[in-house]
Order: sequence, then C-alpha cells, then structure tokens
Amino acid sequence: MNAKRIAAERAVDYIDDNMVVGLGTGSTAYWAIKKLGQRVQSGLNISAIATSMKSEELARETGIKLVSFSDIGEIDITIDGADEVDKDFNLIKGGGGALLREKIVAASCKEFIVVVDESKMVKHLGEFPLPVEIVKFGYEITIKKLESLGCESHLRVKDDKVFITDNGNYIIDCHFGKIEDPKNLRNKISIIPGVVDSGLFVNMANRVIIGHQNGDVEEFEVDYKS
Ligand code: 5RP
Repeated sequence: MNAKRIAAERAVDYIDDNMVVGLGTGSTAYWAIKKLGQRVQSGLNISAIATSMKSEELARETGIKLVSFSDIGEIDITIDGADEVDKDFNLIKGGGGALLREKIVAASCKEFIVVVDESKMVKHLGEFPLPVEIVKFGYEITIKKLESLGCESHLRVKDDKVFITDNGNYIIDCHFGKIEDPKNLRNKISIIPGVVDSGLFVNMANRVIIGHQNGDVEEFEVDYKS
C-alpha cells in the first residue's frame, strides 16, 4: 500500500467546489495534485496556487486552473507534505527545497492539511536536517551565524551543482540533532541577516493525515487555542 498516496488522497476529500487550494510540493503532495486533477476532469471547479514550479507544472498538466495572490482573497485549504512531524504537530519542511513558498502559502490559508506517511512522525524534530533558505550575498557569513546556533551545516548540492531554489536562493541543511524548542530556534534563525526563512513550521498545521503501510489512515485535527 502506498502510504503517502492514501494520506494525500484522503485530504482531497476536503476540497469542495469554488475553493482556492494551496498545492504543496514533493512526492506526497504529488498524489494530492493528481487526485485533484482527476476530480477537476470530472467537473470540480477550483482554482489553485502552487508552492513550486514543479507543482505548478503538474497542476497545469492535470488541468487545474492556476491563479496568483492578486486574483484571490484567501486560500481555503492547502495540502502539503512534511519531512518530520512532532508530537505537537510542528514540522520540518523543505526537503524538496520549496520551504519559502510553502510557508507563504501555509500562512495564507484557512486550513493547512499536512499529509505524511508514518515514517515522518517523530517525538522531537531534528533528525532530519533543517533546511534554511538564504540569499547568495554573504552566504559564507550567514552559514557561520547559523552554525553558531549549534548545528553542522551543508550548502545543498544536487546533481553536482549548488541547488538554487525557485526564488534564486541557496538552501543550507542544518544538522541540529534533537530540537528541544522549535519556536525558539525558528525565532533565532529568522533574525540572522541573509536568512530568508527556515523549514520550521511551528503551530501552523490544522490537520495532520497519516497514511500507514497496512492501509490505515489516521487523522488529527489540531486546535492551537485549547
Ligand atoms: C518540499 C517539502 C516536502 O513537503 C517534504 O520534503 C516532504 O516530501 P515528500 O512528500 O516527498 O516526502 O517540504 O520542500
């Protein structure tokens, strides 16, 4: 059973006619976009904003109408994957390098649905290296400042080339080990000049859908007010 697929397809059940949908990035979000495309072919009327050029291309191929922020008020529901989800439903994202657009979209929707397979669920964030998007100018010093927060870091390289995000920036993968206080770390990283954003998504997920290898799907609704 494809655990990523069943979680992603379950999330698509929440999409109704006339909604504006945020489309995530990665191999789990892929299944959500494919399923949404099928529903569009069968008459569902939605528009969407994608979190990467890759997802934009996939959406276009499947017949989903794409819009920009100037065309809409608010996004109704965003469906996206994650690299790690902790017990408080905080996330590490950005394994696919799309964290900045993913955060902008997640922060602009009424409901942010996170879809993962069971392997992404952890007690504490941090085993997965935290991706941080930084501008090219002065990147050497920005990396030193990130390392002063207690991580070992690597400039992301893909296919033997320095990886460049859809926004023209670098990604630094930061190995912090166990992250005790995600909010505090997010805040410390965000004030470093040169940092655009980090893959720490704190108190953002409204619903987490977990697919299991045996075909089970678990769902958690997160209420940050209680
Ligand atoms: C991309 C992301 C992805 O959501 C994250 O990397 C999970 O990817 P996948 O669904 O392929 O496991 O944050 O920037």
